[in-house]
Amino acid sequence: MSIKSLYKKYLLNTYTRTGPVFVKGKGSFLWDERGRKFIDFFPGWGVNILGHCHPRIVKVLSSQAKRLIHIPNNLYHKQQAELAAEIVKNSFKKGRVFFANSGAEAVEAGLKLAKAYGRRCQKLEIICMENSFHGRTLGALSCTAQEKYQAPFRPLLPHIKVARFGDFEDFKRKVSQKTCAVILEPIQGEGGVNFASKEYFLKLRRFSTENKILLIFDEIQTGLGRTGKLFCYQNYGIEPDLFTLSKGLGAGFPISALVVKEKYSDILKPGMHASTFGGNPLACRVGLEVFRIIKKEKVLENVQEKEVFLRKKLNAFSKKFGIIKEIRGLGFIWAIELKIEAKAVFEEAFKNRLIINSTHNTILRIMPALNIETSVLNKGLDILEKVLKKFS
Ligand SMILES: Cc1ncc(COP(=O)(O)O)c(C=O)c1O
Repeated sequence: MSIKSLYKKYLLNTYTRTGPVFVKGKGSFLWDERGRKFIDFFPGWGVNILGHCHPRIVKVLSSQAKRLIHIPNNLYHKQQAELAAEIVKNSFKKGRVFFANSGAEAVEAGLKLAKAYGRRCQKLEIICMENSFHGRTLGALSCTAQEKYQAPFRPLLPHIKVARFGDFEDFKRKVSQKTCAVILEPIQGEGGVNFASKEYFLKLRRFSTENKILLIFDEIQTGLGRTGKLFCYQNYGIEPDLFTLSKGLGAGFPISALVVKEKYSDILKPGMHASTFGGNPLACRVGLEVFRIIKKEKVLENVQEKEVFLRKKLNAFSKKFGIIKEIRGLGFIWAIELKIEAKAVFEEAFKNRLIINSTHNTILRIMPALNIETSVLNKGLDILEKVLKKFS
């Protein structure tokens, strides 16, 4: 039986899959089983921030696997302690971390902390944003205010209100005496790479502090250098009270984290939350290596430098091709919003061996590996130009 027939027969049909069967990856390239080489401008849905199979990640995966892969969370090991310290040192300076395995789980941990905090002060409402994306588990889905994702699973969690992203007055209208937390992505990723102003974030921060509302940032897509800063909130000159990380944290290995400011770090007590696999030695060793590589290989600097070039190129496409409605982005997270359906463009790019993403019908999303080489970035953009030209 072919691989695709096995998929058809044995896998739940929850994904729209495309293309050939892939067998190998290196840097910003993927190879299929026939040896054809693809440029990957959307590696791992934003996960493979260091490209595919970074040699140092491969090395630590192998060496740590030989020593200790997994022990439960009622025992101590050094990798979890060291990774938590690294995350806190690079963010809040004082705070604590809870480790899980996927993005949605980190969001769940944040929502549970918010609920436990709310209980203390008799508040129970959480505000999320229109067009948000926080994951598919029921709690995270309840804060993912998109009809297409929520409709089949209602009723979801109660006491969740939805505000317009970037609209501070609308947020204020949704706040009540019972609001305990607000959760949002600093840049909405899946929702189409949507931005809010610095002023909005400053107001949100001030208002949340004044009204004892927890400010939760979901940095699962934007964290770990995606925007040219280690964490996206650093672009806005504010700090959230809690933030989530996943995707890039393991550079391909599953791990996620909820990072909590010192002030709120005693809310979850022993037994209130847990994860069997969360923060095991193998996952944490990889996470630690990701931080080291980001520093050693000047990954943030690479994003900042190449962003200028990428922005220039995409702006030029926008001027040249009438099918482009708008381009927007920061660092290495970009949307090309089209006046036509994005699916055919995405497929044409794929045919030309360039992997990108399409979201919300008309939006092409590109999120290259943060260490992509100039020549590969150039080559991928040349293909994209050719494809956009075909549709213009
Ligand atoms: C901002 C954000 N939050 C949460 C998630 C969910 O992560 P996961 O699919 O690992 O549960 C995603 C995934 O795309 C995301 O982009």
